Amino acid sequence: MSKYVNGKIAKLEAYVPGEQPKDKRYVKLNTNECPFPPSPYATRLARQAAGGLNLYCDPECTSLVAVAAEYYGVSKENILFTNGSDEVLNFAFIAFCDAGVPAVFPDITYGFYPVFADLNGVPYREIPLDEDLAVVPQDYYKAGGTIFLANPNAPTGRVLSLAEIEEIIKNNPDHVVVVDEAYMDFGEGESAISLIDKYDNLLVTRTFSKSRSLAGGRLGMGFASAEIIADLRKIKYSTNPYNVNSMTAAAGIGALLDEEYFRQNVDTIRKNRAYLAEKLGEYGFKVLPSAANFVLAISEGISGKDYYLALKERGVLVRYFDKPRLKSAVRITVGTKEEIDLLIAATKAIEEERG
Ligand SMILES: Cc1ncc(COP(=O)(O)O)c(C=O)c1O
Repeated sequence: MSKYVNGKIAKLEAYVPGEQPKDKRYVKLNTNECPFPPSPYATRLARQAAGGLNLYCDPECTSLVAVAAEYYGVSKENILFTNGSDEVLNFAFIAFCDAGVPAVFPDITYGFYPVFADLNGVPYREIPLDEDLAVVPQDYYKAGGTIFLANPNAPTGRVLSLAEIEEIIKNNPDHVVVVDEAYMDFGEGESAISLIDKYDNLLVTRTFSKSRSLAGGRLGMGFASAEIIADLRKIKYSTNPYNVNSMTAAAGIGALLDEEYFRQNVDTIRKNRAYLAEKLGEYGFKVLPSAANFVLAISEGISGKDYYLALKERGVLVRYFDKPRLKSAVRITVGTKEEIDLLIAATKAIEEERG
């Protein structure tokens, strides 16, 4: 740290992204990426766009917005594209929270929320999940601040119904409710995007990093009333109007238009998720029901950290958490069947070694 840094940044605890060690090839089940490459159509469009990189990209993402509006059945003024959904989430903290309007989110959820709050000098209140690690919707009625709810939640994978989400929105008429649907495509749940015309206090965020295989492209979306989108655009145009580069915008169009590829991958992940849960169950893990592309596996016999370390030694990366209630848990991304088999073989070896 330099002596010039201000007090806020000096104190800030940055988000720690999932590790990407380079010492050997790992089975990477720690950052909830999609194991399948982007749609060939997406890569073809991105390659074509590369030839125009001498010019600034279109800050309005005009073509991408038109395709997304059609795809999701909303108006163009209801959409904002960002550099990953992390960026639109950060914009929401900047726009809809301040010293007098705290952020409100579960005690166990996406680890970036408290970091965005601290970065923006926003106080926050964490509402405990219940003993089954589930969000209790009523706890968010009249929450007195801007609500951030990952639905499905991470790292639990549990999902709230659209009716439960709607009640939360209805019961917070004076505050924005941000529904982070990074993992929504993997469940059977209904998206809150259908509610943006009905409620002017709703912002739904989506990502291309998971179900659309574009984590490295960094593409996220916000859906909301035209007024909320205008607020967020103001921040985009006050920080970086060129937040979505031309290759990524082109890839995004390809990813949205290649519906068959998308469906096929999501179906495979759902099947593999069931297979992973079944296999982990055979080894005595309790696996929470997941509507996402990961599962939370809880063990009575081994701490999350020890299991993570033992798996890493055997070339498999998963994620463990420092939180007291997640001490015996790890989050495992749903990979290919081959990757799951490698994880299970490593788990078997660990069990045998521990006796
Ligand atoms: C709940 C949740 N929201 C948002 C994100 C951010 O995704 P991205 O910035 O890649 O769109 C993640 C990433 O893991 C996440 O787990």
